[in-house]
Amino acid sequence: MTAHNILKDSRFAGIEPFESKVWLASPTMHGEEQYWVDDAIKKNWVSTVGANINEIEKQIADYIGCGYAVALSAGTASLHLATKLAGEKLYGQAKPNEGTLQGHRVFCSDCTFDASINSVAYENGEAVFIDTEYDTWNMSPEALEKAFEMYPDVKLIIVAHLYGTPGKMEEIKAIAEKHGALIVEDAAESLGAEYKLNGRWVETGALGDYNCISFNGNKIITGSAGGMFLTDSLEDANKVRKWSTQSRENAPWYQHEEVGYNYRMSNIIAGIVRGQLPYLEEHIAQKRAIYERYEEGLKDLPVRMNPWDREKSRPNFWLSCMLIDEEAMAPMVRGEHDYLYKSEIGKSSPQEILDAISSINAEGRPIWKPMHMQPIYRTNPFVTVEGNGRGRTNAYIKGSGIDVGADIFRRGLCLPSDNKMTPEQQDRIIEIIHRCFL
Ligand SMILES: Cc1ncc(COP(=O)(O)O)c(C=O)c1O
Repeated sequence: MTAHNILKDSRFAGIEPFESKVWLASPTMHGEEQYWVDDAIKKNWVSTVGANINEIEKQIADYIGCGYAVALSAGTASLHLATKLAGEKLYGQAKPNEGTLQGHRVFCSDCTFDASINSVAYENGEAVFIDTEYDTWNMSPEALEKAFEMYPDVKLIIVAHLYGTPGKMEEIKAIAEKHGALIVEDAAESLGAEYKLNGRWVETGALGDYNCISFNGNKIITGSAGGMFLTDSLEDANKVRKWSTQSRENAPWYQHEEVGYNYRMSNIIAGIVRGQLPYLEEHIAQKRAIYERYEEGLKDLPVRMNPWDREKSRPNFWLSCMLIDEEAMAPMVRGEHDYLYKSEIGKSSPQEILDAISSINAEGRPIWKPMHMQPIYRTNPFVTVEGNGRGRTNAYIKGSGIDVGADIFRRGLCLPSDNKMTPEQQDRIIEIIHRCFL
């Protein structure tokens, strides 16, 4: 079966589509956003300077517990400048036509959105993908150790917290310290999530050497776009501020010593973020309630929710996800752009469930396809708990070795997780998931 009108299947009889779409994660506005946008327009601060920018930089730095926040046009921009800064610290200033990571490898989260690691390519480095662990679906510290055995010269790690769930940062930080490596933390999906580091609760976004968050439209709070670079170092904050505004020098004319970028946040976008900030905790509570309703509603099925460390972390529950038990996986194959699956009694597959969800006018999504499986990175190194994760297959042996990210991608999916979804709507989604297993 493919993505046809799955509702014609008798298993789904009596389930009606939603009149208006239930989204995966859409912006949730409260009204104050309009006030601060209007305020900026009235006062003519319609540029990349203004009170909204100053205010949200201060508020976010206070909230995260870091010294400085620099507002940028996107999380991707902040990841780029964080990575460039790390590259420059490690390997020196690059020529204008070269990246700071030229000729260097970087260890990267594998199960993440590609923006986490695009910055390595922007800076001419080579991403080495580190496999995922099953406890939090983030970078495996064990695989990271293996990677340092294979590539002892590496000095930079880019680590993301998938779907708002903090990874094993205590272990990852200890490994980084042992090998003298810097960490770029990608907290784009996890604003408001906390992690207990050596007994002390710390916000994600304050766990690396250079840290990034995003205000993309689908995030826990949004500016419609936007991101921030977070640091305890005034010097680093000033450098990123400089780079983000075309690297202007202190001269009466346009004077440049370094390559620049047009990455600064607009004061209009900052107005939306300013209006959203008071609602961050409310959004997290709504997302948590959604996660818990799925957890309860799906508990009789052969599936589990995306896991988190209940002692050492408090996720922001940005996206609720589920993983089908191996024994309950119906056949499913994915090509590069399409898929096929078969229905079997008592079993289902992510694509079948996603089709069922979509047929009632709701939006789910496959788990982010791991980076080592992406065509663009097919020749980049990939390290698992077994060591080199590439070239493990052989005509004379069965199986293909451990690949946790590929397994989660194959068996998992992201569920509709919109703040504005009502319990009744969520119950209908839970019901249609049950019908998939009939
Ligand atoms: C893990 C991760 N990193 C980085 C980004 C990029 O952020 P932005 O869209 O603000 O550029 C996103 C999402 O958008 C993300 O999910």
